Order: sequence, then C-alpha cells, then structure tokens
Amino acid sequence: MAKLQWQASYSVGVPVLDAQHKSLLRLINRLEAEGDRAGMVAYVFDELDAYIREHFRDEERLMAAAGYPDLEPHKAEHRRFNDWLSSVKVAYNSGGVSAFYITETVGNFLKDWLVGHILGSDMAYKDHLS
Ligand SMILES: [Fe+2]
Repeated sequence: MAKLQWQASYSVGVPVLDAQHKSLLRLINRLEAEGDRAGMVAYVFDELDAYIREHFRDEERLMAAAGYPDLEPHKAEHRRFNDWLSSVKVAYNSGGVSAFYITETVGNFLKDWLVGHILGSDMAYKDHLS
C-alpha cells in the first residue's frame, strides 16, 4: 500500500489532537514498511499504550469541556480500542501467533480505525471543539 499522507481534511481543528492523529498515521506507515523488523511488536505496543493514555485522555477531556453530547458513545469506542489492544497482547504473549502476524493485524486494525473512527466519529466533534 502507498504511504499514507496527512490531508487537511483529516484535521479535527484542534492542533494537539491532530498531532496525535499524525503520530498514528506515522505508526501505520512504519508497520507497513518495517512490520517484520525485530523489536517492532514491543515498539508498537508501547506506541499504542501511549496513544490510549495521552490521546484518548486529551480528546475525552476536550469533548467533556465543550459539553459534547455524544461523549459517552465516543468513550465506548475508545474502550473498545483498549479491549482490542489487550486481546492482541494476550494473543502475542501466549506465544500462539508470530510477531509478523501481530504487526499485520495491528496495521489493518489501525487503517480501519483511521477511516471509521478518526475520519468518522472524531469528525463529528469538530464543530463543537473548534
Ligand atoms: Fe476519538
């Protein structure tokens, strides 16, 4: 797949959130280019842990502060991401799947997340936050 490029239309109008979304885009590109590199799984898990910890926290705070009406369903989507990541870690740590399988799975999930969540659910709060 061609490298993903950030587009102006991806912006949710809040610089800190855009920067965090850009880092996810970079991660998808790295997975595509170097998914079979040694140490990639640990790197990806670290990046996604930070993404959940910092980005979801910032986004949820800003939505709450703006009185965004669909905060709860949005938070539920974030929780599903969290649950998905936990299940991927369990699969990997059980030794039943290869590192390459994990990076492929994660890359595909993140591409779906980009389209479905960032360009869908996140765009829905754009007018409330910016
Ligand atoms: Fe979100």
